[in-house]
Amino acid sequence: MTLSNIMLAVIVAILLLMAVAIGQIIVKLLDGVIRLREIKIYEESGVEEFIRAKIDGAESNLWDRIKGLLSDAVPVEKEKDILFDHTYDGIQELDNNLPPWWLYGFYGTIVIAVLYMGYYHVLGYGPSSLEEYEAEVALAEEQVQEFLSKQANLVDENSVALLTDQAALESGQLLFNVNCVACHLESGGSMPGGVGPNLTDEYWLHGGSLSDVFKTIKYGVPEKGMISWQGQLRPRQMQEVASYIMSLQGTNPANAKEPQGELYVPEATEAAADSSQVNG
Ligand code: HEC
Repeated sequence: MTLSNIMLAVIVAILLLMAVAIGQIIVKLLDGVIRLREIKIYEESGVEEFIRAKIDGAESNLWDRIKGLLSDAVPVEKEKDILFDHTYDGIQELDNNLPPWWLYGFYGTIVIAVLYMGYYHVLGYGPSSLEEYEAEVALAEEQVQEFLSKQANLVDENSVALLTDQAALESGQLLFNVNCVACHLESGGSMPGGVGPNLTDEYWLHGGSLSDVFKTIKYGVPEKGMISWQGQLRPRQMQEVASYIMSLQGTNPANAKEPQGELYVPEATEAAADSSQVNG
């Protein structure tokens, strides 16, 4: 028996118990209605009628009780007792009883209104309409963020932008430590005679712009031992690890590999972005 099956059995058992309890409450309510009517009979018609009603009540079955809840109309032969005195164009008004189900439903709304008022407005336990609205807006914003982060997964070498926020760089570092350190070492500087080139200097074999680095990571240089990562990392992850590599610029780790490739001079705009990012 799996856990979910046990859960299901427990839920079914609870529902059954609840159904039994609700059934008992309904029977009690019907009983209450009958008591109220008996009291009314006692007040209006005296003790003999009351005793008769009691005997009837003792003999009444569930169906009688339900019928009693549906209608409390005065029998036609007694209607003359409940006729109002006034007459309009020969039309007279009958002061008949309201159907009990309606009347108790009405009382119920009053009770619920008081409980509702107390719960939501006086004690402030439940969320108000405004709070519910705000929660929904927050949820919608979350969904927008989720959507945007999915969009972020669509980045490629043309649209890639430098990430500078802490979370993205930390995620990039984690990806680097898991996937790249074997050849580039933890510092990113590799070592003399190391497999991968130094990623912390200004010399690059395949270009030092963010877009270049992203491209190298994405497509790799398989013939030189740098694999293509697009099958293993999502675009967003490649953006993160590329941004992390950019953040290593100028860290000048000890015992790093000698510069290889060409000096890369960032363009003015990128230099600004880079310096803010290195400082940050
Ligand atoms: C199996 C070893 C190996 C692993 C693992 C590896 N690389 Fe490389 N990487 C290399 C080699 C070798 C080169 C140099 C390729 C060449 O000579 O053209 C390189 C080059 C690069 C370059 C270009 C450097 C330049 O000078 O242009 C970048 C950027 C880079 N790797 C990033 C990464 C990232 C990010 C990871 C992890 C996701 C990674 N590498 C994992 C071996 C590796």
